[in-house]
Amino acid sequence: MSQTRNVAVIVGSLRKDSYNRKVAEALIAIAPPTLKLRIIEIADLPHFSQDWEANPPQTVVDFRNKIGENDAVLFLTPEYNRSIPGVLKNAVDIASRPYGQGILMGKPAAIASASIGATGGFGASHHLRQVLVNVNMPTLAQPEVYLGTIDKLLDDKGQLSDERTLKFLGKFLAAFEKWINIHLPA
Ligand SMILES: Cc1cc2nc3c(=O)[nH]c(=O)nc-3n(C[C@H](O)[C@H](O)[C@H](O)COP(=O)(O)O)c2cc1C
Repeated sequence: MSQTRNVAVIVGSLRKDSYNRKVAEALIAIAPPTLKLRIIEIADLPHFSQDWEANPPQTVVDFRNKIGENDAVLFLTPEYNRSIPGVLKNAVDIASRPYGQGILMGKPAAIASASIGATGGFGASHHLRQVLVNVNMPTLAQPEVYLGTIDKLLDDKGQLSDERTLKFLGKFLAAFEKWINIHLPA
């Protein structure tokens, strides 16, 4: 039985009916008991400014602390103009500072993207991967999760219940759990 790991889930969409949030909720529902996933909200974060680095707003302090309570981070990203939404980049920038002490540093990460387009957010996923290299987050390579035409995979309750997709996401979580355990002490 592996050790329980806490995973911060960051959803890069503020949209009420976000498909990426629905994927996050599906992942939370199917996660093994040894992976405790919880969404950390980014909607109330201010735009990052280096001016307040020495004395950040309370929302920023709280956000960093919430991430700090977790062993790893799972990112769900939509694709906006072949990249990640500005709100997601802003959240990563906030969590990456102060320089050399960012709370994300060294935490194992995984990325899943979902899009109504056929390419499933491939461009966004790889832009985010590039960002995470600089933040020094070891990021799971396989399986790659680009969920295309996500709007066709929801049931009439608006939930992701497509069996094939859920099975695939289960494999993704299993690989992520192994990845976390490789990178963190027991
Ligand atoms: C500003 C903007 C740019 C977009 N650019 C892309 C794109 O480059 N590729 C793509 O597949 N979908 C693109 N889309 C469509 C998104 O995939 C779609 O809005 C999706 O529902 C967003 O994710 P969400 O449901 O989690 O909010 C774009 C949407 C917006 C609002």
